[in-house]
Parts: sequence; structure tokens; C-alpha cells
Amino acid sequence: MRVVFLGAPGVGKGTQADRVTSKFNIVKISTGDLLREAVRNQTPLGREAKSYMDQGKLVPDSVVIGLVRNKLADPSSRNGFVLDGFPRTVAQAEELGKVLASTHRQLDRVVNFQVSREDVIKRLSGRRSCPKCQATFHADFAPSKKGAACDRCGETLVQRSDDRPEAIETRLKVYEEQTAPLIRYYRDQQLLSELDGSGPVEAVFEALSKVLTPYGTT
Ligand code: AP5
Repeated sequence: MRVVFLGAPGVGKGTQADRVTSKFNIVKISTGDLLREAVRNQTPLGREAKSYMDQGKLVPDSVVIGLVRNKLADPSSRNGFVLDGFPRTVAQAEELGKVLASTHRQLDRVVNFQVSREDVIKRLSGRRSCPKCQATFHADFAPSKKGAACDRCGETLVQRSDDRPEAIETRLKVYEEQTAPLIRYYRDQQLLSELDGSGPVEAVFEALSKVLTPYGTT
């Protein structure tokens, strides 16, 4: 199964991608996670990406395309993948098409998650992340059983630097201007499935599984 998760910041792409990878035995390729890892490790790429990310702007196409190209060349992606947060521009989508074609692969589906702006802002403002194992929680909707510490590893949870109100505003604007055009791009290729992402996590996962089941084995 080869799928792309599309949608505004905070619609739940990462939350659902984690569930989909276990159910369908495929890998998650999240450009946000890869970039945050580079920032944590203070690599040259991480240092370049940090200022864009903190402001809520997109990291240059050349940087993220290189990251994804490497991941798609890795044997771990052979059984399938879910791309979470990539592509985010038409240029990235075109490059993805070329990389897949060069290895005789193609996308099975692009799922567009729909959640109201108001709910997205609530989800992002309350998100808490584990800086050690990268687990994601929500202060109200998905709290950690250990309060301010991570359920999985016990590390103190933090708020992502781009989940501050000013950065959220910028991310939503950037999404409308640069990423939303991909909805039409993939609809024209008859790859798009719309998904209502506004319900509880398990209900969204059930609906998503119905969309994806024809393309994978569990
Ligand atoms: P990235 O990490 O990809 O951020 P994003 O797309 O803004 O998406 P988020 O991770 O914020 O949200 P999500 O949809 O995954 O929601 P989540 O499941 O966490 O990118 C970060 C930055 O990196 C970008 O701004 C950019 O600078 C750079 N970047 C990344 N990719 C790039 C690219 N391709 N090109 C250029 N730059 C790039 O859920 C959010 C919260 O809601 C959580 O707290 C969760 O617990 C909660 N939640 C989830 N589902 C539900 C539900 N159903 N009900 C209630 N709460 C829920």
C-alpha cells in the first residue's frame, strides 16, 4: 500500500499514520518527524530547517525532497508506506511522481483529512509531545495517563515550538496557499479520497481503514 495523507496542520495525520502502519505493516515517512530529528541532532540540515519550522513556514523543497528520496530508496518502504506531511507543494508532488516512476511504483490513494479550522486550532494548542520517543498526546482529547510525563517512556512532555498561536496562524495560511492546491492536483489524477477527520480518533481510524483496506493486507 502506498498512500499520502493530506490535510491542514493538526487534522490528525500523524495520529492516524501511526495506527495505519501497525495495521497494514507499512512504514510511516513523516517529513515533520525527520526534520525535527535533524533539528534535535543539530545537523547542518536541522540548523537550516529550524528557523523555517519555528515560524511555521515550509522548509525549502530541495531539502525535504532529498529526505524523502532517501527514505523511498530504503528497502523498508518496499511493502508500502504512508507519507505524512509530504508532498506539501505541487513541485514536491511532481518530484514524488518522478521518484516513484523511476522505481516502477505508483501511489494507490491520497486521503484528504477534513476538520474545521476551529477544531484544528484546539487540537494544535493542546498538543503535547514527547521529546524522547516522539509520542503525541492532547491535554484534553488524549491525555497521558502520567499527567505531564509520557505514558510510554516517562519523559516530561513539551509543547512543540510551532504550536504557539502565531506559528499556528502562519501554518494555516501556508497550508491554504501552498498545500491546498494538491487536493485538486490529486483529484484530477483520480487518486483522492475525502475523509471526515472530525470525530474521535477510533471513529476516524475505522473510516480510514475502510478507505485503505482494498490496497493493503493486514
Ligand atoms: P508536520 O510535523 O508535518 O506538521 P503539520 O502538517 O503541521 O501537521 P501536524 O503534525 O501539526 O498535525 P497532524 O495532522 O499530524 O496532527 P496530529 O496527529 O499530531 O510539519 C512541521 C513543520 O515541518 C512544517 O510547518 C514545516 O516547517 C516543516 N515541514 C514538514 N514537512 C514539510 C514539507 N513536506 N515541505 C516543507 N516543509 C515541511 O494531531 C494533532 C493533535 O490533535 C494531537 O494532540 C492529537 O492527540 C490530537 N488529535 C488527533 N486526532 C484527534 C481526534 N480525532 N480527535 C481529537 N484530537 C485528536
